[in-house]
Amino acid sequence: MKEKVPTGIPGLDEMLEGGFKKNTNVLIVGGCGSGKSTMAMQFIYNGAKMGHPGVYVTFEEGAEEIRENMKGHGWDIKKMEDENKIRILAIEPQDVMHILRGEYGRIEDAINELGADRVVIDSVTSIEMMIESEFEQRQGVLKLITWLRKSGCTSLMVYEKAVDVHSASNHGNMESIVDGVILLYNLRRGKTRVRALEILKMRGARHMTNLVPYVLEKGITLQPHQTIFGDFVDEKRM
Ligand SMILES: Nc1ncnc2c1ncn2[C@@H]1O[C@H](COP(=O)(O)OP(=O)(O)OP(=O)(O)O)[C@@H](O)[C@H]1O
Ligand SMILES: [Mg+2]
Repeated sequence: MKEKVPTGIPGLDEMLEGGFKKNTNVLIVGGCGSGKSTMAMQFIYNGAKMGHPGVYVTFEEGAEEIRENMKGHGWDIKKMEDENKIRILAIEPQDVMHILRGEYGRIEDAINELGADRVVIDSVTSIEMMIESEFEQRQGVLKLITWLRKSGCTSLMVYEKAVDVHSASNHGNMESIVDGVILLYNLRRGKTRVRALEILKMRGARHMTNLVPYVLEKGITLQPHQTIFGDFVDEKRM
């Protein structure tokens, strides 16, 4: 059996029977503010603590912004960077086209310099926004995924899209290309909101399939044995 890569995210490894499969590419899909970047950084930060350096590629926020935001979760990213356990690569909008064209030099250098085996791409949505043709978008992203799989790294990609609990497949073409899909919901129940995670697919692996509530405080903490009750209203239907 392929080696598992633990995320260290409380509850998630249990759902994944140990973690992600090594060298696979997993997509985190969720609406704005659902905790995608937090979850992605938690994977990198926990890896770094376990002796597995990671590269966080961001098209969304500046490196300083990320360091600042992550402090709120109790993570000293700067310290990890100084120890060469984490590298944040902030790609400017004008340089996104290089990534789409398959020029991964900066990412590759960072992986080699750190000896990294974890990579995050935050987000694919930003890459896609830079290009009009859907065909070229898909081609660019597919090329990136193929390269990531061969890079010796286990990778997480962030995709911003409000997910619909009533529809099994509404995340476009991305979900069929990647090895795994994790959905982050921000559901409304009456006047309150419930955050919940679902593993939609994980190729070649057994995993829990139910909707699992999570709290977003000091990182993401899942409660795999809690059931969600009630009638939900999807973000998209509000
Ligand atoms: N220190 C903190 N403690 C608790 N919750 C926090 C903290 N920092 C952020 N949050 C919550 O996390 C949310 C943002 O998380 P995150 O940036 O990971 O989401 P995202 O899905 O990446 O958002 P975006 O779509 O803007 O990129 C905030 O809206 C807030 O609710
Ligand atoms: Mg984000």
